[in-house]
Amino acid sequence: MILTTSFAFFGLLSAQIIRASPVTQNIIGGPPVGIYGTNFTKSGPVDQGPTTFPKQADKDLSVDAVLFQNLLAAEWIVQDFYQQGVEYFNQSMLTEAGFANDTMSKLTEILQNENGHLAIFEAAIPPGATKPGKCQYDYGFNDSTTLSSTQQAQIYMTTLSLIELGSMAYLTGLAQTTETATGLATVMGIISAETRHLTWANSAVLAGDPFVGPSDTVYPYATQILSTTKQFISGSCPSENPPYPVGDQLLPKLTYNETTSNLQQGGFIDIMFKPATHGDQNPPSLKKGDNISAVFFHSLWNWTVPITVEDPTVLHTQIPNITSWSGELLISLTNKTTIEKAEDVIAGPMLLEIDSALLSSLS
Ligand SMILES: *[C@@H]1O[C@H](CO)[C@@H](O)[C@H](O)[C@H]1NC(C)=O
Ligand SMILES: *[C@@H]1O[C@H](CO)[C@@H](O)[C@H](O)[C@H]1NC(C)=O
Ligand SMILES: *[C@@H]1O[C@H](CO)[C@@H](O)[C@H](O)[C@H]1NC(C)=O
Ligand SMILES: *[C@@H]1O[C@H](CO)[C@@H](O)[C@H](O)[C@H]1NC(C)=O
Ligand SMILES: *[C@@H]1O[C@H](CO)[C@@H](O)[C@H](O)[C@H]1NC(C)=O
Ligand SMILES: *[C@@H]1O[C@H](CO)[C@@H](O)[C@H](O)[C@H]1NC(C)=O
Ligand SMILES: *[C@@H]1O[C@H](CO)[C@@H](O)[C@H](O)[C@H]1NC(C)=O
Ligand SMILES: *[C@@H]1O[C@H](CO)[C@@H](O)[C@H](O)[C@H]1NC(C)=O
Ligand SMILES: *[C@@H]1O[C@H](CO)[C@@H](O)[C@H](O)[C@H]1NC(C)=O
Repeated sequence: MILTTSFAFFGLLSAQIIRASPVTQNIIGGPPVGIYGTNFTKSGPVDQGPTTFPKQADKDLSVDAVLFQNLLAAEWIVQDFYQQGVEYFNQSMLTEAGFANDTMSKLTEILQNENGHLAIFEAAIPPGATKPGKCQYDYGFNDSTTLSSTQQAQIYMTTLSLIELGSMAYLTGLAQTTETATGLATVMGIISAETRHLTWANSAVLAGDPFVGPSDTVYPYATQILSTTKQFISGSCPSENPPYPVGDQLLPKLTYNETTSNLQQGGFIDIMFKPATHGDQNPPSLKKGDNISAVFFHSLWNWTVPITVEDPTVLHTQIPNITSWSGELLISLTNKTTIEKAEDVIAGPMLLEIDSALLSSLS
């Protein structure tokens, strides 16, 4: 009896919905037309609106205006990575390199997504603020004179994972600095879209672990992470662009010796300084016997590991037992007892994806 009654009720409800649905006029809202770009070719949408924008006065900008300026400039790096990949590779090359036969269509779909992100960030920057345009970028996968087609595809996919990892890291950092709930919600929506790209790349493409544990790594100084993405800027930027990133501390950047390091819980990492580029400061002048610390960030926590310098060019450092051996590990140097504010960082951060399958594909 009851069952019959509720079926009757649902019938009535759906009839009402059907009666209401044919209205197609006077619809208000939705995204701007062409959110994914308007110029489709056989390899997908290849353009996304203007790549340069008029310079604005950039005075008295809100916190969120600056945040979205930084995010738009970072997004061009991500978008152009997919655009170059979609234009450079075809499915036969990816199949020969051992990747699944839907890899090219997935890359095209992600490119479309990233084009949408550009449009979202462009719209989030208020009229009085400059919208950063596209620069020239080099991701190091396309040298056909020294790399085989398979090597190029492998480098491309590993770089994809690192670029997505970097974007996860700076987005979680930026989430802490948004001024408005709308700004925060926009960042959250983008984080979850980027997470899907990273999850796909790490599992379906690189046969690694798609999970992190128990949360993505939160590093509160997102501008320092954005600064590490300058490495992909190989040529000029539109002269209208503000500096990238706005608020850059120009910190020395870090790398590590893959041969001598033993990356695992309780293992060791031999931290080295990268030569300064893009206007960054030179490495700090350290000498034997100096005391500094490496700070490891994983999930929501950090661990400070004191180092007494032996060789100023290679900081041999024990890796603490972090929360779990998966996801993103960020390492920065400080000469304080711990890192409490952005100014306490003297070099870094270095981003590592601590997944054994991915680490072996990197070396
Ligand atoms: C679409 O791309 C082609 C080739 O790059 C270009 O010639 C054309 O102007 C573009 N169209 C639009 C509407 O941007
Ligand atoms: C894919 O690209 C390679 C290298 O440019 C080329 O030799 C091959 O013919 C292309 N394959 C298809 C199906 O377009
Ligand atoms: C792609 O690969 C899947 C699984 O290996 C296979 O089932 C499918 O037929 C392939 N499709 C094409 C178009 O080759
Ligand atoms: C790789 O692509 C970038 C961007 O188009 C270009 O600047 C660079 O010269 C290319 N590198 C090689 C080795 O072709
Ligand atoms: C790593 O360390 C080994 C052994 O000390 C050394 O031969 C090699 O040049 C180092 N690699 C780099 C990139 O510095
Ligand atoms: C570094 O720390 C060690 C051990 O605590 C101490 O003996 C040494 O004097 C310190 N070095 C400097 C330069 O302060
Ligand atoms: C690092 O951890 C210490 C100890 O829990 C904490 O006081 C500090 O605020 C943390 N620093 C950052 C940047 O999260
Ligand atoms: C760290 O983890 C390793 C490997 O699981 C273990 O042998 C070691 O005892 C741990 N160290 C600490 C300080 O918990
Ligand atoms: C810490 O490092 C900064 C930047 O390299 C430097 O200016 C400062 O003097 C250092 N402080 C100490 C106590 O070594």
